[in-house]
Amino acid sequence: MADALLTEPVIIVGGGTFGTTTAFHLAKKGYTNVTVLDRFPVPSLEAAGNDINKVVRTEYPDPLYTKLATDAKNIWSNPNGLLSGLYHPSGWIIGASDRSMPFVEASIKSAKTVGTEPPKLVSTEEVHQKWPMINGDLPGWQSYWSSGGAWVNAREGITRMARKAINSGVKYISGDAGYVKQLLFDANSTCIGVRSADGSNYHGTKIVVAAGAAAGSILDLKGQIVAKGHTIGHIQLSPEEIERYKDMPIIDHLEGGILFPPQEDGIMKIGAIHFVTNYAKSYHGMSLPRYRSDNPGDDIPAEIEARLRRWMSEFVPELAQREWVETRICWDGDMPDYHFLITPHPTHKNLSLAIGGSAHGFKFLPVLGKYIVEMMEGTLDPAISAKWKWRPGAKLSAYEANPHPEVPVDLSSLQGWETPPKSLL
Ligand SMILES: Cc1cc2nc3c(=O)[nH]c(=O)nc-3n(C[C@H](O)[C@H](O)[C@H](O)COP(=O)(O)OP(=O)(O)OC[C@H]3O[C@@H](n4cnc5c(N)ncnc54)[C@H](O)[C@@H]3O)c2cc1C
Ligand SMILES: *[C@@H]1O[C@H](CO)[C@@H](O)[C@H](O)[C@H]1NC(C)=O
Ligand SMILES: *[C@@H]1O[C@H](CO)[C@@H](O)[C@H](O)[C@H]1NC(C)=O
Ligand SMILES: *[C@@H]1O[C@H](CO)[C@@H](O)[C@H](O)[C@H]1NC(C)=O
Repeated sequence: MADALLTEPVIIVGGGTFGTTTAFHLAKKGYTNVTVLDRFPVPSLEAAGNDINKVVRTEYPDPLYTKLATDAKNIWSNPNGLLSGLYHPSGWIIGASDRSMPFVEASIKSAKTVGTEPPKLVSTEEVHQKWPMINGDLPGWQSYWSSGGAWVNAREGITRMARKAINSGVKYISGDAGYVKQLLFDANSTCIGVRSADGSNYHGTKIVVAAGAAAGSILDLKGQIVAKGHTIGHIQLSPEEIERYKDMPIIDHLEGGILFPPQEDGIMKIGAIHFVTNYAKSYHGMSLPRYRSDNPGDDIPAEIEARLRRWMSEFVPELAQREWVETRICWDGDMPDYHFLITPHPTHKNLSLAIGGSAHGFKFLPVLGKYIVEMMEGTLDPAISAKWKWRPGAKLSAYEANPHPEVPVDLSSLQGWETPPKSLL
């Protein structure tokens, strides 16, 4: 590529998972004028990627993601790389019931296509024998064991990658100066920059929107992305319990929830797969995130908490009623077909999008930016571009693409997450 392009001013809106991997790969390629604008300093308080742990798995019905996840996993697990020490090869158990079986079956097929080891059906007796800490009845579970599943320290991964980008010359700007309120266009509707909450304007010739679930608040996405909230809670184990649970795998029941092995400090994360939407303040009719930063009294919905506890009683009954030491609703932007939205904007020149993590985007942190940069340069593989293109009205093409078949519920019809409680208003 001609060197001239490397000096182009690039503005990235959002320094979470997709924004940071983009900045990192731009710097790696030699771009010298890259600015990342985020409402919060890295790791952003509200980034989906800012979390104690995330699953890195290669089980996907679509071989594209099995391959990308395998590439990413090789970087996560490199003991000498930028991300060294963050990878924990715990393995994972995929629990499925009727509605999630198509996802599992398609993933097994895809693993065989790509040549990775497919997950293997294990009986409840085998589970009890191999992992004595999992001693509930597992009612109705079909359990699949995947030795290749792992978890990574997500927060530290993003932080290291951002630090590396900054050391290579990328500028990260946060606070009101980084909180983008508006995209700027010229008379030909070419995007020329952004304006932030403190009134500053930033000009660039390549503007990338990577604002995650919140992207729809600065750009009309034609209904493509639905912000979905994932309810999570942390519990604290005692030193004896850490000992007992430390060798457990990740347990992810596609219709129940997800439980991670304890961190070194004894914190265990439990995540719901009963997602929520927030249409209350929608822009162009879309669900948008409701961040705790704007609503400090927010808690988690009582009904989802109760489901999580019921689910835990199916396999780790002794932990099911523990008090939370932390709760959160964490927001991601979902595409209906679970493919990302990584594409030039169809009408605004010089504007592109890197959003639509669709509840599975984190694991690709080490590699995704390379593809985002190729998209920006117009060299992305056409077969991949076709999946990540601008596509209003797209529907789930195959049922098996959705690992979590539960239909999201709007916050407005749930109780217990607001202070003061709705019943008092
Ligand atoms: C609870 C939970 C668990 C998950 N588990 C997994 C998992 O186990 N494995 C996996 O692979 N994936 C997982 N995901 C999905 C993954 O985290 C997301 O797909 C991915 O992080 C999306 O990245 P992003 O950059 O689009 O969004 P984010 O990481 O949310 O980043 C968006 C950034 O934009 C910033 N921003 C927003 N609005 C503005 C604005 N107006 N101006 C400036 N900045 C702005 C935010 O502060 C944030 O830093 C999970 C998601 C959640 C919520
Ligand atoms: C980056 O681009 C901006 C906008 O064009 C310009 O004002 C600035 O001087 C450039 N910075 C560098 C280091 O080239
Ligand atoms: C818009 O495009 C026209 C035709 O290419 C050009 O003459 C004009 O200068 C452009 N206007 C702006 C504001 O860039
Ligand atoms: C759009 O980007 C191209 C290079 O990618 C640049 O030459 C052009 O000036 C940009 N247009 C505007 C209006 O900034």
